[in-house]
Amino acid sequence: MNKSFLWGSSISGGQCEGGYSSRSETVVDIIPQGKETRIKYLNQPGIYMQRPEGFYPSQKGVEFYENYKEDIALYGQMGLKALRFSVLWSRIFLDDSLEPNEEGLKFYDDVINELLKYNIEPIITTIHFDMPLWVVEKYNGFVNRKVVDLYEHYVRTIVQRYHNRVKYWISFCEINVMNHMLYMVGGTVLKEGEDREEVLHQCAYHKLLANARLVKVCHEIDSELKVGCEVAGTPYYPLTSLPEDYQLMIEEQRKDSRYTDVMVKGHFPYYFLKKLKEYHVEIKEEDMEEMKKHTLDFIAVSYYKTSLASTEGVRDNPRLEKTAFGWTIDPKGFRIMLNQMYERYEKPIMVVENGLGTYDQVEDGKIHDDYRIEYLEKHIEQMELAIEDGVEVIGYLTWAAMDVVSTSEGMMSKRYGFIYVDREDDGSGTLERIPKDSFYWYQNLINERMK
Ligand code: BG6
Repeated sequence: MNKSFLWGSSISGGQCEGGYSSRSETVVDIIPQGKETRIKYLNQPGIYMQRPEGFYPSQKGVEFYENYKEDIALYGQMGLKALRFSVLWSRIFLDDSLEPNEEGLKFYDDVINELLKYNIEPIITTIHFDMPLWVVEKYNGFVNRKVVDLYEHYVRTIVQRYHNRVKYWISFCEINVMNHMLYMVGGTVLKEGEDREEVLHQCAYHKLLANARLVKVCHEIDSELKVGCEVAGTPYYPLTSLPEDYQLMIEEQRKDSRYTDVMVKGHFPYYFLKKLKEYHVEIKEEDMEEMKKHTLDFIAVSYYKTSLASTEGVRDNPRLEKTAFGWTIDPKGFRIMLNQMYERYEKPIMVVENGLGTYDQVEDGKIHDDYRIEYLEKHIEQMELAIEDGVEVIGYLTWAAMDVVSTSEGMMSKRYGFIYVDREDDGSGTLERIPKDSFYWYQNLINERMK
């Protein structure tokens, strides 16, 4: 294994930081805990824009804001070579005054310096489902072209500040998840009577333009910087050998690959362009030029599961096992996804998320999470087979370095981390950090692979 390979892990600001009083709110701060409501309101926040009483887990996270030194010391002890985290736009710009908040900038200076102290490569995501709420309330998110300029101003500020210490930049977390979560990923609230697909296509166009702006800013400031955008890599298999199922599989995959195509190849695939026109998106020549010129250096992917496409809609694969939270487990799909991605784009791939979200039990102060170790081992094995196939993978970052608030459920008890955090779903707990068995397993794996 290449010695420069980035063995690491990921976290995100909206899921771990807390530090609520020293920043402005983000899109997830106003979504309460609870699976039933959560998915629905991550798409359309509805009544939550009026802030009813309830427990709002993202406002507290796991208090990384206060504990970052101790947490990063544990990541150092684990031997992580890289940590991906998100900068909170809402910490850098408290409103649209264009004046950055020095206290916020200083916080990430400290985080970066702390990581470098342990030789951990800092990797920044500029928005990880944590867009400022003021962008939603004032501009309605990426449906509004003005937000592309605001985003450019934000990223120019942070790239200028951190570029001498941060080489890898990721524009957005899972841009293609916007297909389902318009509010959380696009920052856009659908108004009554609006056509969802029309609004989604407008948001997509602006987000892709914003991605090109990050590439432009990074390369202008420092030509050595490497820029990626994260896409959720979810391969589809056809349910049956019916040609109709195969056709539907292609259509499902296109909903995801249309974003990557633009960001890597620099132009819109014909079927995407056709839809943009049908949905009356204003396509400007100068935007097309920007997107053509400023393409990604690498592709960041997350991998959790695969799905089946059929004439009856998207289905779970009945031949695969599922996690306690109903996500299919398909390590072989990981090799397939990496090969498909590399074949299509021939760009280096950084795996920026992969992991098992499940319940953990503390027994005598320890967490014996052999199920997580088994899950990760099987996925790493398939990734290494993909590398043997010839796929250029430059890093493997698990989700997550420590337990954080889950995105889809808003629960603490859906745990992904190598480090247990004593916080319950209702926010109670001591916040004590306890390394799980998987912590020592990953430490050992990194040691072995770096020999
Ligand atoms: C990814 C997100 O989609 O999946 C993370 O980037 C998220 O933010 C992770 O936490 C796992 O999803 P969940 O809903 O189980 O937390």
